[in-house]
Amino acid sequence: MARTNSTANSTTIVILGASGDLTQRKLIPALFSLYRKGRLPENTRIVGFSRSPYSHEEFRDHLRNGVEQFAGRVFDDTDWRGFAPSLYYLAGDSQTLRDCERLDRFLIELETGPANRAYHLATMPNLFARIVENLGKAQMAREADGWRRIVVEKPFGHDLTSAQMLNSVLDSVFDESRIYRMDHYLGKETAQNILFFRFANTIFEPLWNRDYIDNVQITVAEDVGVLHRGAYYDKAGVLRDIFQNHLLQLLCLVAMEPPVSFKADDVHNERIKVLASIPPISLADTVRGQYGGYRETSQAAADSTTATYGALKLWVDNWRWQGVPFYLRSGKSLPRKASEIVICFKCPPHLLFNVPPFEPNLLALRIQPDEGIFIGFEAKVPDSPEDTRTVEMDFHYRSYFGSQPLPDAYERLLLDVLNGDTSLFPRRDVIEAAWRLIDPIVQGWQSPAGPPLVIYEPSTWGPEEAAELLARDGRCWRMAHQEHSDDGRRD
Ligand code: BG6
Repeated sequence: MARTNSTANSTTIVILGASGDLTQRKLIPALFSLYRKGRLPENTRIVGFSRSPYSHEEFRDHLRNGVEQFAGRVFDDTDWRGFAPSLYYLAGDSQTLRDCERLDRFLIELETGPANRAYHLATMPNLFARIVENLGKAQMAREADGWRRIVVEKPFGHDLTSAQMLNSVLDSVFDESRIYRMDHYLGKETAQNILFFRFANTIFEPLWNRDYIDNVQITVAEDVGVLHRGAYYDKAGVLRDIFQNHLLQLLCLVAMEPPVSFKADDVHNERIKVLASIPPISLADTVRGQYGGYRETSQAAADSTTATYGALKLWVDNWRWQGVPFYLRSGKSLPRKASEIVICFKCPPHLLFNVPPFEPNLLALRIQPDEGIFIGFEAKVPDSPEDTRTVEMDFHYRSYFGSQPLPDAYERLLLDVLNGDTSLFPRRDVIEAAWRLIDPIVQGWQSPAGPPLVIYEPSTWGPEEAAELLARDGRCWRMAHQEHSDDGRRD
C-alpha cells in the first residue's frame, strides 16, 4: 500500500461536480456508510463544489434525501446528524482558474492546518482536463504537509487519443501513484473475489487453462434502458460504456496469471499482459444491437445508430488460453439484471454413461445480483441404471456472510483512495490498452464493413445474431440461473 508521508491530521474530500447525480446516489451514501462503520479517518470533511447555488444547509438536505433514498438500511437519523456537519459546499465554476483558487482559499480556511486532500472529479467528463490543469496552476496538487490525490470517474476518454491526452494532462500535475481512475466493477466484492477464488484455493487453478476449459463467457446484462442518461449514452454506446472498462477488467481477472503480490503494480502488470495478448477483434465476430424504442427516448437522436447491445468473441493469445474463445456481451433492456462469468469446461475424453444430451461442467461466478458461485456437474439419477442429470453446488454470499447487502463498490474504492492503495484502479497503460482493443470496433461499427445494427425487442436477450455467434462454434450462451428451475431441477 503506497502511503505518502503526511503530517496532516485531517482529510478533505473535495467533490467537483457535487450537485450531480453521482454524488447523491453513490459518493455520499458510500462515505456515510464508511462513517457509520468508523472507517473514515479522524477529522474528515467533505466539500462539494459545483455551479449550483446551495448553502451548506441546502447541500446537506439535498444529500440527506439521496442517502435516505439510495443507501437503504444504512440510513440512521442519529448517525446522519453526526455526519452532516462534516459536509460543506462552495458554489463555483471549476473551469475557471479564479474559482479554483477561491476553492483553495476556502479549503485552507476550513482545514486550519496541514490536511490531506482527495479531489474527486464527478463532473461531465469533457471538463476533466481543464479542472486538472486548474488544480495544477492553483498549486492545489502540491504535497507540502499532506497528500494530494485525484479520483477520475469513467468514462476515461472516449477513444485512445482522448484517453492519452487526459492521461498526459493528469501526469503533468499528479504522478501515477496519486491518480485513481474509477472502474466501479473492480470495487465489487464479487469481482475482487475472483482472484481469491482462483488463488486461495488449490482445486480450481490447475483446471484454469486450455486443457480443461472449452470457453469463457462474460455477461453484463441490464433490464433497464438508458433512463435519464440518454444525452451521455447516445454518444457513448455500449462499447465505450461497458466493454472498454467493466467487461475487459472482468476478463483480466479471469485470465491473468497469479501476480507476485497484491501490491498495485504487481496486479496491474498482470492485467496489462492479458490485454496485450488479445489480438485485434474481428468485426465478423461482433454483434451490434439497439433496443426497440431507444430512439424515442428524449435525449437520443431520432436516427441514432448507437448500440445498446454488443456481443463479441476474442482470443487471449498466450500459453494458458491458446484456442479458448472468450465471448463477451452486454446490453440494456434485457430480461434481467445479471453480471456473470461462466467458465464452460470441456467434455470428458470418453463417455461411459447414458447422458443425452451431455452437459459439460459449468462454473459461474455471479457478480450480481444474488452474488455467489455456482457449479453444475453430472450426477447419477437414483434408481436408474446409468442415467445422469445436471445438479448443482451453489454458494450464495448471503447464506454465508449474513443477509446484509454487500457493501457498495464505492465504499471499498473510496477507502482505498484514502489509504493510498491504487490496486483496484486501472493504471494508465491498462486504460490505453483497453482502448486499443475497443477503438477499431467502434470505428468498424460506424463503417459499411461493420455488422448491421439489429433492432431487438426490449426485454429479450438481444439480437438473434448473438446466439448465432456462438451457434456457429457449436456453443450457446450459458448462465447459472438458466441451468435450473426453482425446485432445483434442470429446465
Ligand atoms: C456504468 C454504466 O458504468 O455501469 C451504466 O455507465 C451501467 O450504463 C452501470 O448501467 C452498471 O453498473 P452496475 O453496478 O449497476 O452493474
